[in-house]
Amino acid sequence: MFAARQTFNLFQKRAFSASASQASKVAVLGAGGGIGQPLSLLLKLNPRVSDLALYDIRGGPGVAADLSHINTNSTVTGYNPDAAGLNDCLKDAEIVLIPAGVPRKPGMTRDDLFNTNASIVRDLAKAAAKSAPNANILVISNPVNSTVPIVSEVYKAAGVYNPKRLFGVTTLDVVRASRFISQVQGTNPADEKVTVIGGHSGVTIVPLLSQSNHASIAGEARDALVNRIQFGGDEVVKAKDGAGSATLSMAMAGARFAESLLRAAQGEKGVVEPTFVESPLFKGQGIDFFASKVELGPNGAEKIHDIGPVNEYEQKLIDACLVDLKKNIQKGVDFVKANPGN
Ligand code: NAD
Ligand code: LMR
Repeated sequence: MFAARQTFNLFQKRAFSASASQASKVAVLGAGGGIGQPLSLLLKLNPRVSDLALYDIRGGPGVAADLSHINTNSTVTGYNPDAAGLNDCLKDAEIVLIPAGVPRKPGMTRDDLFNTNASIVRDLAKAAAKSAPNANILVISNPVNSTVPIVSEVYKAAGVYNPKRLFGVTTLDVVRASRFISQVQGTNPADEKVTVIGGHSGVTIVPLLSQSNHASIAGEARDALVNRIQFGGDEVVKAKDGAGSATLSMAMAGARFAESLLRAAQGEKGVVEPTFVESPLFKGQGIDFFASKVELGPNGAEKIHDIGPVNEYEQKLIDACLVDLKKNIQKGVDFVKANPGN
C-alpha cells in the first residue's frame, strides 16, 4: 500500500510542473465499460489532463458525475448518448481513446469480434474525423489489427488522415511481457524492458526476448514465455468465464500510453512506446500497419524505430505474424470500402 501511494505521489509530482500551464482535453469513447471506467479514473488522477470528456451509449454522465467528486483539478463531463453529445465530447480533444465495443468470451478469437466492433469503430471514427480531426486517436477496441485500418480508411475518406496521429494501443502486450519475464527470472518488472512488435492478437504478437535483459533464455523456457505473452489475453478471458476480458490491466496500459503522449506533447524528449501504427517497415510486403517502438512528440508518432537485430527464432515468429497481420489489415480496409456507413 505504501509503495503504491509513493508511486502515485511521484507520478503526481513529475507531472505537476509540466502540466500546470497546459490544457489537455482527453476524450474516452466507451467510458462506461469495463475498460472505460478504470481508464477514466486513471485519467482523472493524471494532472496533465485538464478536461476529461466521457461518452458511452450507456452511462457516460453517471461515470462523469462520480469521477467529478475526486479532488483533482480536471473537469469531468459526461455527454448524452446521441450525435450532438458525441460531437461535443470530441470537440477540441487532444487525445481520443476508444475502448468502445464488445469483449471476448471463452472460445472466441479477437477476430470473432469484428462483425460487431467494426461498425462501432467506423462510426466513432467518422464523428472524430468531423469533430476532432487533429486529435491523437488511440484505438483499444478489438480486433486492433483491423480496427486501426478501419479508422485510417474513414479518415482518408473524410480527407483528414494524418498517420502520425493514429495509434493501435498494444501497450498491454509490453506490460505483460515485462511482468511475465520478471516472474520467470525473479526480477523487478519495472526494470524489465521487452520490446513487443507486430500486432495485437495471438501469433501477431512478437516479443523480442533477444533484445531484453534475458537474451539467453532458450528452449522450453523461451517457448513457454513467448506463448504466455502471445496468449496472455486468453488467460483473463478464461478466468473471467464469460464476463469479459482484461479491463483493469488494459486501463493501466491505456493510461500509460496516453500519459506518454502527453509527456511528449508537453516537450519531453525520448519518449518511446511500442504501438501499432502506419509503418514503412513491411510496406514492401503489402503490410501497411505494424507495431514497433515509436518515438512520440508534439506531432504524434515522430519516428518509427527499426526492429533491430533479431535471432532465427524471432525471425520465424515475425514470418508467422506477417501472414496473419496482412489478412487482418485487409479485412479492415475492405470493410470500410464495402460499408462506408452514412
Ligand atoms: P465492455 O463491454 O465492458 O465495455 C464496452 C463499452 O463500450 C460499453 O460500456 C458499451 O456501452 C460501449 N459502447 C458500445 N458501443 C458503443 C458506441 N457505439 N459508442 C460508445 N460506446 C459504445 O468491454 P471492455 O471490456 O471495456 O472492452 C472493450 C473493447 O476493448 C473490446 O473490444 C475488447 O476486446 C478491447 N480490449 C482491447 C485490449 C487491447 O489491448 N487493445 C485489451 C482489452 C480489451
Ligand atoms: C487482451 O489482450 O487482453 C485484449 O486484447 C482482450 C482479449 O480479447 O484478450
